[in-house]
Amino acid sequence: MTQIRRVFARVVLVASAVALAGSSVASAQDARAAQQVKLRQSAYTVLGAQMGLMAAQASGRAPYEANTFRIAAERAAFIANYVPELFPTGSITPSSKAKPELWQQQAEFQRLMRDMQSKTATLATTARGGDLEAIKPAFGAVGASCKACHDKYKAD
Ligand code: HEC
Repeated sequence: MTQIRRVFARVVLVASAVALAGSSVASAQDARAAQQVKLRQSAYTVLGAQMGLMAAQASGRAPYEANTFRIAAERAAFIANYVPELFPTGSITPSSKAKPELWQQQAEFQRLMRDMQSKTATLATTARGGDLEAIKPAFGAVGASCKACHDKYKAD
């Protein structure tokens, strides 16, 4: 009887050790995913801030200042080249708005990334010229490239 109880106790011990080890692996993965999502959302927040600044000037809500506009356009192009790295497999948490399909549809997702990169590069080049009338359509094209991906791969 005591023998059986002892064996039982050992089985319970081993089982809970395995469960503990499993949950610490899971929580390490969760922590990593949370960090990856936070970095991605932060980069997009910075990108969005550049768009906000440029939108105000392009729409006339704020006076056009060639220099600050150009800097924002160059920053946007720089970050646009960085964000594709911020979607490693498994980087999804409840606070992420990334739709899981994007990891299954990589060709389309990367095509939309490249489109944003080319549109932000064109905007930066146009902004260096300082001609607001040429800048407006180039800015509009960037906005459309953001929206094209959000419509497909970002939850509301
Ligand atoms: C190829 C796809 C793609 C493109 C292009 C794209 N985005 Fe996003 N964006 C996403 C996804 C997916 C998320 C959700 C990320 C998450 O929550 O994990 C997101 C999230 C965001 C967020 C919210 C960040 C937060 O804190 O939750 C902002 C702001 C944003 N994008 C701005 C932009 C702007 C501005 C552009 C264009 C210059 C752009 N995005 C282009 C896919 C894209």
